[in-house]
Amino acid sequence: MKLFIDTADVAQIREAWSWGILDGATTNPSHVAKTGRQPADVYREICDIVDGPISLEAVSLTAAEIVKEGRELARLHHNVVIKVPIMKEGLKAVKMLAAEGFTTNVTVNFSPLQALLAAKAGATYISPFVGRLDAVGHDGMELVRQIKAIYENYGFPTQIITAAVRHPQHVLQAALAGSHVATMGFDVLEQLYLHPLTDAVMDLFLKDWAKISAR
Ligand code: E4P
Repeated sequence: MKLFIDTADVAQIREAWSWGILDGATTNPSHVAKTGRQPADVYREICDIVDGPISLEAVSLTAAEIVKEGRELARLHHNVVIKVPIMKEGLKAVKMLAAEGFTTNVTVNFSPLQALLAAKAGATYISPFVGRLDAVGHDGMELVRQIKAIYENYGFPTQIITAAVRHPQHVLQAALAGSHVATMGFDVLEQLYLHPLTDAVMDLFLKDWAKISAR
């Protein structure tokens, strides 16, 4: 399963990229707003760091405008994936962008039927927001499993990006469900390294090694 970082914080992206386990990045309007910077500046920096798919979100509301915005975003770098919200105009735009050869990430996905429509429109990726479903009492990961089943039933090539990931269990469950990608904040990515037993055993090994050196 590929791992993407979900942020517009370039320092975090640079650090995570240096670990050698990152495959791509996703951003959204809220992430960019948090940086207090101009989107184009942030996007250019991310494209300089990440050698993999980078989802940049279109914020227009009509298909024609989304397509225009998408073309402009894609001009920034060949790694750019145009992120399009799942709505009627968004789906029309995805169809047109796909026909022009652009890659798209259909976002803000909360139902399997939305995901079916995204795949029919020719989306490269679908992003189910699992953490936000969990937060309102649903089982977010069940949505990933349902999308996976539908896509496999009909051979859709659209890849699933498990999104709105809140903790390492989401990442594990996404991997077990066969999600192609999980995108997560820096905090979750960092937690994937951690295990208390690793720390305890490393501590023991280093203490024993110090005894040898002291001989
Ligand atoms: C994914 O592409 C989205 O940017 C992200 O996962 C949204 O999640 P959140 O706003 O619920 O954290």
